[in-house]
Amino acid sequence: AKRRTVIAGNWKMYKTVSEAVDYAGKFLEEVRNVTELDIVLCAPFTALSSLKNELEESIVHLGAQNMAWADQGAYTGEISAQMLLDVACTYVILGHSERRELFGETDEEIAKKVQKALSSGLKPMLCVGENLNVRAEGKAAERVSTQVSRALTGLSIEDLRRVIVAYEPIWAIGTGKTASSKDAQEMCASIRATLSGLMGSAAEQVPILYGGSVKAENIAELLAEPDIDGALVGGASLDPLSFARLVHNAT
Ligand code: G3H
Repeated sequence: AKRRTVIAGNWKMYKTVSEAVDYAGKFLEEVRNVTELDIVLCAPFTALSSLKNELEESIVHLGAQNMAWADQGAYTGEISAQMLLDVACTYVILGHSERRELFGETDEEIAKKVQKALSSGLKPMLCVGENLNVRAEGKAAERVSTQVSRALTGLSIEDLRRVIVAYEPIWAIGTGKTASSKDAQEMCASIRATLSGLMGSAAEQVPILYGGSVKAENIAELLAEPDIDGALVGGASLDPLSFARLVHNAT
């Protein structure tokens, strides 16, 4: 049987608390009967606590967009796994290309964050993806495989079973240029092969999401591919009604 679909919205650095609360009300209204897939909203840290109250006992799960690798201490500006659990997060995006490219996050730091998320009981959504140069050189699969192995090597199979991988080609993020479903499928299959090397046949159970200009109009085509199990959605998750439409098109 195919894996359960995951549709995650990544709001990035958008929405104040009142905007987030307003969104939650409208979005829940539209998706409250959707039980056949997992919906996640990854909001800015400042909105999480209020969203916890709005989404409690709903089918919508809460996620953060980043997390510290340390438990607590003198780490000015950082947010810990415990703090995320405290505001009812169950997921956390780690290693998003914007963190890697704009804030210098390395594979090593991302690996530490993945381990911390898992040992704390959060589900990491590990983001990987190549830029245009790497793709042009024909090295996309190799780069992505390296990112996956560096983030996940050394984890137990039990831990690996709680990981979600999101393949986001950097050239497709926020550009309106979606990877063709064939290219996205090819890379997601290659990621699954890398996962098999780490965890054997249990890799068949790992949700692999595609991200990069996903919208209500192209979600169904992407999900029709055998190794694409969902989507990480940026721009098209910002409006509650359009995102709800995307969710419905994913069922
Ligand atoms: O995390 C989401 C991705 O970066 C995709 O963003 O849907 O705006 O292209 P986008």
